[in-house]
Amino acid sequence: MFQYHCLNLIAQKGLDIFDEGYKNSDTIDGSQAVLVRSAKMHDMELPESVAVIARAGAGVNNIPVKECAEKGIVVFNTPGANANGVKELVLAGMLLASRDIVGGIEWVQREKDQEDIDKLAEKQKKQFAGCEIMDKKLGIIGLGAIGSMVANAAASLGMEVYGYDPYISIDAAWNLSRTIKHSKSLDEIYSKCDYITVHVPLLDSTKKMINKEAFGKMKDGVVLLNFARDLLVDEEALIEALDSGKVKKYVTDFANHTVAGHEGILVTPHLGASTEESEENCAVMAVKEVRDFLENGNIKNS
Ligand code: MLT
Repeated sequence: MFQYHCLNLIAQKGLDIFDEGYKNSDTIDGSQAVLVRSAKMHDMELPESVAVIARAGAGVNNIPVKECAEKGIVVFNTPGANANGVKELVLAGMLLASRDIVGGIEWVQREKDQEDIDKLAEKQKKQFAGCEIMDKKLGIIGLGAIGSMVANAAASLGMEVYGYDPYISIDAAWNLSRTIKHSKSLDEIYSKCDYITVHVPLLDSTKKMINKEAFGKMKDGVVLLNFARDLLVDEEALIEALDSGKVKKYVTDFANHTVAGHEGILVTPHLGASTEESEENCAVMAVKEVRDFLENGNIKNS
């Protein structure tokens, strides 16, 4: 990632770059600033030299923020910089859960050498029939940069969008259109919506927030999307909900879910922010934050 535009931003300022990937704490010993994407930093010693860590991404759960605070190390993230990349994958996830695109593609691959594949397809395609997302109710839990972009995009596709976020009013939500209905409670989202997508950070208070009780309040045949963090969903309760038909599909970006191969689960390997544009945006924002801190002592996310 750091071979993009951001390397120039660093070099322009005469800062030295060490870019050989993370191996152990020695890798960053002597550095003032650390730029990191997904490497888990919890088990590493933080050298005295480090004054600032910037995470190229929204979540900071791979960084020991408490320990950093105790040591006076400033931690930045890059809120919003990859939001469009994630939003687009969430939309794709909603469509994949509604139309059996994957099943259809696999069928053609299997049968492609058959003569008269057109005729065969006519007979077979009933099994791939799906439903449309227009006029369906979408519930968005968390209206930060990603949640609010998903809200606007889904509304423009004709979905009826409900948003819930305990920290902001709908009017204050970033770039949020008037077509979004603000739910006063999670229960309203659970009981009303055909599709539910989660966009909250992983905190002690949000861990396993989608649990047996939450599933119990949802409509039968709901589609649940989780492109935020795997641990937001209680896996045992999820399996029960899938097996009983409460959840029709679970679409997630976390292959490390132990239940990833279960019937009804569509999973991608954490690809939400893996676009050229999002990687570049995150890297540039992270570098600018670090540079501004090292040069001017400013502590602010861009
Ligand atoms: C995020 O927290 O924004 C994502 O985990 C970014 C990433 O995929 O690296």
